[in-house]
Amino acid sequence: MAKLDIINVPDPILKTTSTPVDRVDGDVRKLLDDMLETMYAAPGIGLAAIQVAVAKRMIVLDTAGEDDEKKPLFLVNPEVTWESEERSVYSEGCLSVPEHYADVERPASVRVKYLDYNGEMQEGLMDGLTATCVQHEIDHLNGVVFIDYLSKLKRNMIVKKVQKAQKDSVVL
Ligand code: NI
Repeated sequence: MAKLDIINVPDPILKTTSTPVDRVDGDVRKLLDDMLETMYAAPGIGLAAIQVAVAKRMIVLDTAGEDDEKKPLFLVNPEVTWESEERSVYSEGCLSVPEHYADVERPASVRVKYLDYNGEMQEGLMDGLTATCVQHEIDHLNGVVFIDYLSKLKRNMIVKKVQKAQKDSVVL
């Protein structure tokens, strides 16, 4: 496995609409493994392929607590097939928007259809943090980052701070 570089806002790559994966083969599984390693190392609870500059509809998630057993989920070509009327609000962050958080309201539960690590079709009901996380990651596949839900003023402020932090950091 290999750790990959994560792209930050305002890189225009993050605005890309990702294309479906034709077949879950060895190359796709290798990228899923690398994405999971990258996500755990960050650390984060979700990562979309576009965040490592691959415009394919693939996401990895693990919303298990830090001290709990790891429960990785690999979703290829994920699609929301149902969403609840009930909404929930979480303070969201994103590995592409380091160290910034904001409340985002989304459906509290969703049903999601996807291909798993073995290319098998799965459909599952997700709720709580997992529901929010999967919707946040599917947004990435459509070129949407959570700060796009905020006011332009707030979004621009966050982007400027991320850019400044990046400029000030020294990589040795
Ligand atoms: Ni994100």
